[in-house]
Amino acid sequence: MTLDRSLDRRARLGTVLAVTALVLAACTGGGAGSSGAGGDGADGGGGGDAAGYPDREITFVVPFSEGGPTDTVTRLIAGPMGEALGQQIVVQNVEGAGGTVAAGQVAQAEADGYTVLMHHIGMSTAPALYGEDLAYDPLEDFEMIGLVTEVPMTIIGASDFEPNTMEEFVQYVTDNADTVTPAHAGVGAASHLCGLLIQDALGVELTFAPYEGTGPAMDDLLGGQVDFMCDQTTNTTSPIQAGSVKPYAVTTPERVESLSDVPTTEEEGYPEIQVGVWHGLYVPAGTPDGVVQALTEALQQALTDQNVIDTLAGLGATPVSEDQATPDGHRQRLQEQIDLWTPIIEESGAGA
Ligand code: MLT
Repeated sequence: MTLDRSLDRRARLGTVLAVTALVLAACTGGGAGSSGAGGDGADGGGGGDAAGYPDREITFVVPFSEGGPTDTVTRLIAGPMGEALGQQIVVQNVEGAGGTVAAGQVAQAEADGYTVLMHHIGMSTAPALYGEDLAYDPLEDFEMIGLVTEVPMTIIGASDFEPNTMEEFVQYVTDNADTVTPAHAGVGAASHLCGLLIQDALGVELTFAPYEGTGPAMDDLLGGQVDFMCDQTTNTTSPIQAGSVKPYAVTTPERVESLSDVPTTEEEGYPEIQVGVWHGLYVPAGTPDGVVQALTEALQQALTDQNVIDTLAGLGATPVSEDQATPDGHRQRLQEQIDLWTPIIEESGAGA
């Protein structure tokens, strides 16, 4: 599988480290004063309470571009979470390396609850994809706040891309594997993972156009600069409903209510192209228990907000249940997903 091997690994890591250092300096008020996490992530919390927390603005770090699906979910819950916490939440996009730049930054931020990472399924695939190049351990270097949403993905094509159905898509991509241009949001992105599954199912090797988020990738898909991508319904529902892209299949076992005409990959005979995206909130390991608890309670409250529920439903997504919007539910999902995806990625040849 050549797709991402074409990127120069060392150059990418160098970029990750350089960008991380720059962002860290910007986010922590100079960087020199920022402490490493050094916490006890696996054991949960850094002890202590949340006296006075929060008494200033909180930053939610989004690891992909503005306007993309992760950004959409983050901005949607930031409002009600801020209300629950009594402080403003600002959203900052820290793009790069499939979301690993932002995660590396937050792992190294002050463990005080003022820098919070929103991330998705990519937290569970990055260890297998980056190996020793990964600057953090997802399970050890963070406290989990809770899961946020479950989001199906869709395989979609540009309006002028020849195939009209999943069957035609499979045939066309198989026949033209060396010339089609799929897009993804970088190694470790959900669109990358889905792309790997498509490659494996079709037995082809594709050359992907990498973006820093599927927000800009969607702009190019709409403009016909790329041929297809697999992306979350939180980004694809509107263009599918508007008829500006061609939907081929949904990647979850069930159809999506807001896209009820779109078949599932399983219905189309490709059950192996199955992936559901989940999001979760993280703070650096060592963050006091009371701060984690305050954030968890605010998350749970935000997920019952009617506007959040309705907006997510319209975009094919679902807020998680209260027991999943907890540190334990989140940690368990992350561990399960690492266990699920690591062998699949290794077998695909895309692993580090
Ligand atoms: C992904 O492919 O992981 C996402 O769509 C990234 C994003 O939010 O842009």
